[in-house]
Amino acid sequence: MMRTNEAETQIAAAPPLHMIDIIRKKRDGGALDEREIRFVSDGAASGSIPQEQLAAWLMAAWIRGFSLDETRALTLAMRDSGEKFSPARLGKTAVDKHSSGGVGDKTSFLVAPLAAACGVAVPMISGRALGHTGGTLDKLESIPGYRTALSLDEFEAVLRKCGASIVSQTPALVPADRVLYALRDRTGTVENPSLICASILSKKLAAGLDALVLDVKTGSGAFLRDVQQAEFLAALMVATAEMAGTRTVALLTDMGQPLGRAAGNWIELVESIELLRGKRPAESEDLRELSLILAGWMIYLGGQADTPESGYERAETALMNGSGLRVFLGMVEAQGGGVSVFDDAEKFHKPGATEVVNARESGFVTEMDTTALGWAVQRLGAGREKAGEPVDPHAGILFHARRGAQVERGQPLATLYATTPAQLAEPRAILERAINISKAPPDAVALVSRIFTRDSAEKYLQNAIR
Ligand code: URA
Repeated sequence: MMRTNEAETQIAAAPPLHMIDIIRKKRDGGALDEREIRFVSDGAASGSIPQEQLAAWLMAAWIRGFSLDETRALTLAMRDSGEKFSPARLGKTAVDKHSSGGVGDKTSFLVAPLAAACGVAVPMISGRALGHTGGTLDKLESIPGYRTALSLDEFEAVLRKCGASIVSQTPALVPADRVLYALRDRTGTVENPSLICASILSKKLAAGLDALVLDVKTGSGAFLRDVQQAEFLAALMVATAEMAGTRTVALLTDMGQPLGRAAGNWIELVESIELLRGKRPAESEDLRELSLILAGWMIYLGGQADTPESGYERAETALMNGSGLRVFLGMVEAQGGGVSVFDDAEKFHKPGATEVVNARESGFVTEMDTTALGWAVQRLGAGREKAGEPVDPHAGILFHARRGAQVERGQPLATLYATTPAQLAEPRAILERAINISKAPPDAVALVSRIFTRDSAEKYLQNAIR
């Protein structure tokens, strides 16, 4: 065995690293070692590596890919790039949920308060709009005053008071993801399983979770649309999180259409609050069902139910008796948000321009290009072209017809909300191309198609890389 001072001498003797060498190595298909990967993650976090070099490295990584070892090393390096939260002091099991990214995906606003209402602590570090998908933080910031960048002490105080807190990465908390996430958004380097795995898990592992539920999207609106790619991502994330000591399950869920009826910032909160108030609009039924399934798993893994099914029942009770709503409103207030906006949500919604898009023919809504619909939402003003730009809380799309609906020519398909009238034309054209109407109804699609646990994830990966 190597003695400490021998090891120190070897480390001291290690040649200095240069970002240009690491970029060229990945560009040429080489495998990076742990030291090189930590160098990149630490340099992203501290700002010592310039953005153009990080962008070049991300593109090389996107094209060449990472091995399982590189993916693990990147995940752990990014987790360690800042401070870590220790939920043990809360005296409750800490469980969270994270999605691989979708359109209209607002389950966080339901699952976090529902699981917290059932006795689980939910320390949730989330992200902003990424590529064609919306961001939980951008949506929450449409509530006047809501603060997402909390110190660890403030995060703990909200968790003690409310049981759930939804916050952002900061210069202190997973700073490497904060920098790389924003760069990937602008450089077309989002859709890579290793980069998605490291981005999601670095945040979740830095939150010190006991258990994690992953919602891995598949279908036309997912970053990895193909079922096999989505399965690989699910297995990769479960195996990587389990290796780091967090009990994890992944559910493969349908993103072949926007989830629920709203996609945007404020309008997604309105839809969520409606469900938390116990209402049950038909167009939001998939959102309600998926949220209860995910919350059921969180409650089960958090030790507050014997099975995911009884967790579902507990979550549904918390939805119907208003305890989930109370947790959500308490969290908003504790993070500085004004809850009176929810008293008259319609009045608060002030889009700069509105347009209704009607069906051009009669038939059934059979298919949606959900990625294209996500870009339409972003270009109405809900997303950003450049890092740090403000987003419009009021921009978005309300869908009046969902997959399987029978529509008549001239019937409203969707309402567009834009920042300015000039921003309506491109999204309208995208929407008209993205929604397919045919004479025959489509086949039903399962909301949850597969579940990965540690054993099935490891088996899947062994077969996948054989
Ligand atoms: N969510 C994240 O936090 N990161 C990704 O890369 C995708 C979804």
